[in-house]
Amino acid sequence: MLSAERAGSSGTDRAGQRQENMKKIHVNTSSEYDILIGSGAMRELPAVLKNAVNIRTVAVISDSNVFPIYGEKCLKYIEEAGMKALSFVFPAGEGSKCMKTYEEILEFLCENRLTRSDALVALGGGVTGDLTGFVAATYLRGIRFIQIPTTLLAAVDSSVGGKTAIDLKAGKNQVGCFYQPIAVLCDPDTLKTLPESEFKCGMAEVIKYGMYGNAPFFSELLDRDAKEFVDDVIGTCVSMKRDIVTRDEFDRGERMLLNFGHTFGHAAEKCSGFKLLHGEGVAMGMAVMTRAARRFGYCDDMTVELLEKILDKYGLPKEMPYTVGELTEAALSDKKMMGSEINLVVPEKIGKCVIEKVPASVISDWLEAGGVKC
Ligand code: NAD
Ligand code: GLY
Repeated sequence: MLSAERAGSSGTDRAGQRQENMKKIHVNTSSEYDILIGSGAMRELPAVLKNAVNIRTVAVISDSNVFPIYGEKCLKYIEEAGMKALSFVFPAGEGSKCMKTYEEILEFLCENRLTRSDALVALGGGVTGDLTGFVAATYLRGIRFIQIPTTLLAAVDSSVGGKTAIDLKAGKNQVGCFYQPIAVLCDPDTLKTLPESEFKCGMAEVIKYGMYGNAPFFSELLDRDAKEFVDDVIGTCVSMKRDIVTRDEFDRGERMLLNFGHTFGHAAEKCSGFKLLHGEGVAMGMAVMTRAARRFGYCDDMTVELLEKILDKYGLPKEMPYTVGELTEAALSDKKMMGSEINLVVPEKIGKCVIEKVPASVISDWLEAGGVKC
């Protein structure tokens, strides 16, 4: 809990004022936590750490792009809480979301004798969050961690809901578990240093929220520039994600809607040797899936036109640079395949998708129907 315990105590007036300007979203999953969204959210780190009793050492896990910008500030806040601050920095990029980095971080934590009552901070994008979350879930059978997302994608999606993972050669996120953070501190000001290409990737996930469950939000994204109201964009997506993970924390039903565009997107990422950015894959995956949905009678021309229009507006790709054969092979190794069946998230209209369990043998038909070259 962030603010309830703090309100009214004499030394925390400024913190209280800061928090008044922020949006707080409470997540009520197997373990509960707050997400604080707003300028200066990282400044709440000392309070979060102090509230989480018994922490003596905090290790900040971050990548080689993010740590030089925000690392020192984060370490300073940990020290301000009276705790020992350590850092582990890995090379930026999806390639680091792997067994090797995972093992290196675990060894680092052992060498520095972090105990079960200590904590980690994931400072960065989805790669850092997924990797750190998996380390936190498994080191000494679980230590606490805090998410500080610094990409749009991490702010709207990966920092919330407790999916942690690393990749294998066989595919994305093949090893992982559900493990919730104790808090998420999301400061949209960090997006000012984010490269434009990465902002665009985050927009793919933002558009996904409009497509699967929020037509008015989709229209607003089409009519306005998301950058003009980015705090609200993050707040809307996080509220939607909170609602879905509260009802289906372990991804057995409704939560699969959040995978709209991801089955073919992950396949494209795999085909590219993970050179394609996650958001680019998701954008292509959404476009292919929506065109296929039209072909199979799930949605109309307008749905396809509007999706393609919004992808164009935010500079996202609509066409797959891989063949039906390549993508089919990659998609079938995806963990969403259940035996000989695969779950597809199919749009019926803007703001509504359904989950269809289909035989794996028809994947190539869907890709072809979505305009992928043979
Ligand atoms: P990322 O973490 O690699 O960050 C993208 C790039 O931006 C990196 O080069 C990073 O160093 C840089 N960067 C990050 N913040 C910055 C900042 N503020 N200023 C300057 N540079 C900055 O990638 P991502 O797009 O954030 O996340 C993609 C990952 O998230 C994928 O592995 C995907 O599978 C995962 N994901 C997980 C979930 C989930 O629910 N756990 C959901 C969606 C995506
Ligand atoms: N990003 C998909 C999920 O959290 O379920």
